[in-house]
Amino acid sequence: MRSETNNLEAFWMPFTANRQFKQKPRMLVAAEGMHYTTDDGRQILDGTAGLWCVNAGHKRPKIVEAIQKQAAELDYAPAFQMGHPKAFELASKLAAMAPQGMDHVFFTNSGSESVETALKIALAYHRARGDAGRTRLIGRERGYHGVNFGGISVGGIVANRKSFGTLLTGVDHMRHTHDPDRNAFTRGQPEHGAEFADDLERICALHDPSTIAAVIVEPMAGSTGVLMPPKGYLERLRAICDKHGILLIFDEVITGFGRLGSPFAADHFGVTPDLITTAKGLTNGVIPMGAVLAKKEIYDAFMTGPENMIELFHGYTYSGNPIACATALATLETYQEEGLLTRAAELDGYWADALHSLRDCPNVIDIRNMGLIGAIELSPIEGAPTKRAFQAFLDAYEQGLLIRTTGDTIALSPPLIIEKSHIDFLFDTLRNVLTNLD
Ligand SMILES: Cc1ncc(COP(=O)(O)O)c(C=O)c1O
Repeated sequence: MRSETNNLEAFWMPFTANRQFKQKPRMLVAAEGMHYTTDDGRQILDGTAGLWCVNAGHKRPKIVEAIQKQAAELDYAPAFQMGHPKAFELASKLAAMAPQGMDHVFFTNSGSESVETALKIALAYHRARGDAGRTRLIGRERGYHGVNFGGISVGGIVANRKSFGTLLTGVDHMRHTHDPDRNAFTRGQPEHGAEFADDLERICALHDPSTIAAVIVEPMAGSTGVLMPPKGYLERLRAICDKHGILLIFDEVITGFGRLGSPFAADHFGVTPDLITTAKGLTNGVIPMGAVLAKKEIYDAFMTGPENMIELFHGYTYSGNPIACATALATLETYQEEGLLTRAAELDGYWADALHSLRDCPNVIDIRNMGLIGAIELSPIEGAPTKRAFQAFLDAYEQGLLIRTTGDTIALSPPLIIEKSHIDFLFDTLRNVLTNLD
């Protein structure tokens, strides 16, 4: 246990094995570029961009300066019935870089809040159009949409749902797309599984499509262990939604801002949803912020009635916070100047070769990749699921590499500034870790 002034007990850590951590803490005290510094002075290569968010790497000068400047100029402005220039500038820039037709931006403070916001907009949109019977929300098994009640209701990760009651009513789930029998060790999009999208037709037949407001999916499912959409799957979802007048929401909290080699996954897959949720890479993870991008038709549907009336009864005290906006603007500039939103596409081949070279390591049962994302699925220890991958996480950290694990899958998502020499270090270290793992 540390000194009284830095007692570890009080902080109830999120998504963390608190007792294990507090016995042997892993403490980061500084970061720059691709590396963290630990409290015992070691350099740790960031193989996860923090939590999939530090896309431009750490301590970027433009971002640091923008925060300092904004804090000294306008620290806060009320988010309701008042404005400040940077929120409008940022919204315009986001709309300009968003897929065609997504012209409007609603600011939030996290991915979870973006999800709640998008679900609420979807419901309210149908009501505003006089189609108030559309109240059902459809998610997917294994989906992750943050931790608030809407998000865990449409989400499909059992551990995130089972302790929290009956959740939202009127929610259903499509089946997930993981099919290792047919698709194991695929590079990029799997060949097999477009037909999983037809599960939406089954749900439409069960509930009647006229009761369904929206379908939400991660175009690439990250937190469940990195599942790529099969070829043709997203296109088919889009077609079914169009056929039945259902809104399609892409949760791009992870895939937004260059992770797959395009600004958004919607660009990457050539499928445009009606709403996109973002957060994380929007501010390089430095200041909490999220944004929901909406099609013009959706925004326009609300712009009716008396002009003095609030059109959407939703928003957060920190929606479009000036410091968050300044951070996001500096982040977007950094992405642009350094070509980071397409850099993952340039490195894809080198990254995939290095990743898939681990195929012969013990216990590896699948490897998946796309852009600067990699997943290595390990066979679980019998009777102790997750233990093998978690040990890999601990060993990698000891050897100077931060990875992330979910279940028995190791997920990799480094900052987009990664160089080939870092990729070599990352996979050499992982090979060593996996080779010596029980
Ligand atoms: C797809 C997706 N949606 C939502 C979230 C929640 O974001 P936050 O943790 O910022 O609330 C995440 C976080 O990993 C995510 O991956």
